[in-house]
Amino acid sequence: MTSPSIESKPTPLWAKPGAIIENDAMSFMSRDDVVLDREIFLFDIQATTAHVHALNRIGLINDAENTSIEAALRDLADAFRDGSFTLDQRYEDGHTAIESYLYEKLGETGKRVHLGRSRNDQVAVALRMYMKTALKQAAHACTQTAMAALEIARTHEFAPMPGYTHLQRAVPSSVGMWMASFAESFAECAQLCNLTRTWIDTCPLGTAAGYGVNIPLQRQQVAQELGFAEIQINPMATQAARGRTEHQVVATLWQIMQETRRLAWDLSLFSSQEFGFVELAPGYVTGSSIMPNKKNPDMAELLRASTAVIAGAMSEIQQAMSLPSGYQRDLQITKGALIRAVKTTLEALSHLPRMIQTMTLNTERMRSAIDAPMLATDRAVQSASTGIPFRDAYAQAAQSINELELTDQSISESIHARTSPGACADLMLDQIEQRIRTQSTQPGNQL
Ligand code: ARG
Repeated sequence: MTSPSIESKPTPLWAKPGAIIENDAMSFMSRDDVVLDREIFLFDIQATTAHVHALNRIGLINDAENTSIEAALRDLADAFRDGSFTLDQRYEDGHTAIESYLYEKLGETGKRVHLGRSRNDQVAVALRMYMKTALKQAAHACTQTAMAALEIARTHEFAPMPGYTHLQRAVPSSVGMWMASFAESFAECAQLCNLTRTWIDTCPLGTAAGYGVNIPLQRQQVAQELGFAEIQINPMATQAARGRTEHQVVATLWQIMQETRRLAWDLSLFSSQEFGFVELAPGYVTGSSIMPNKKNPDMAELLRASTAVIAGAMSEIQQAMSLPSGYQRDLQITKGALIRAVKTTLEALSHLPRMIQTMTLNTERMRSAIDAPMLATDRAVQSASTGIPFRDAYAQAAQSINELELTDQSISESIHARTSPGACADLMLDQIEQRIRTQSTQPGNQL
């Protein structure tokens, strides 16, 4: 991104008379804040409105001022949404932009809003709101993905497919089992998003720079107005939560992307000529610039690689967090990592349901990849369940492995005999669907 020009940089709010502000140093410190703050700007405006209400309730901003600030903040939000206000290099950051706008529109009245707060609690609350929204959207996308996988599991519930361990043929399994595994895993991911959302649902606003303020701010009411379950009590703990909260959110996203990576791995492997189990829809494969015969699963590969972006963001946050108590500017670095992780995850997830729905399954190829020795485990378990000690049954099955006979019927029997709960004969798809539905949230970008 381009550095701000010397002329365009306004005097920072905190400038001391006579102090020279080095522009290069200033842009190093602001980094890409004005770009990143676009992601949290509307939340910042919402929280600023709640703070103004809090000042009004204790008589530090009068009713007329309250009304005019409220209206100006509404106008700013509208102008930001329709593009007539751009958060750009004219400002040090989004927080400064809000205050400058209010001063420009309302003069003296605009100067009143920052009483009793700091950019430290201002950024913390906006980020908390951003994270809650992102987790809601991620949970929704996970349930959509889970439902798409469940649908395939229902359609091909008993379609035979090899089960692998170590990538070696193990036992007969089914498409139902394979796809239901993603349905359940993505439901778990949605659950984790919702748990993390509950964990971070405390409001930092009103803790100011990290030590509270000498005015009786009614923090509970502010928290309620902003849709938080409760306040985060201790101002120092609130500051210490910055970065740590982000880390937990990114770790949650990593869980989702790990499942995405497993799915992407399976799809790229199973769509290879060696397997030929799956054909990805034409929109998700690419050609080669030199090899006319190629159909490459780039989409699956880039979904797989996106997990690395999340892991990188998580590590960046961890590394930035070797800090003493109190706000440190190091924490600003965690914002870019968080936003990158959120955007990458949500974008990746937006493709999954359709990719699952549009793939073609070659059930004949899957069936023909099952061989007779794969029935050996069933044979051993079956004999052992008639009373022979399992180790002896195992040895017998190993000895007679070449006598096993593979037919459509023996495969089908193998699948239908696997009655342990969750296994091929009893996938418990209704229960999995119930778990998905329990985690369903409306996406929305409001809290
Ligand atoms: N851009 C800053 C951040 O993300 C905002 C807070 C600035 N606070 C300060 N004390 N300099 O952390």
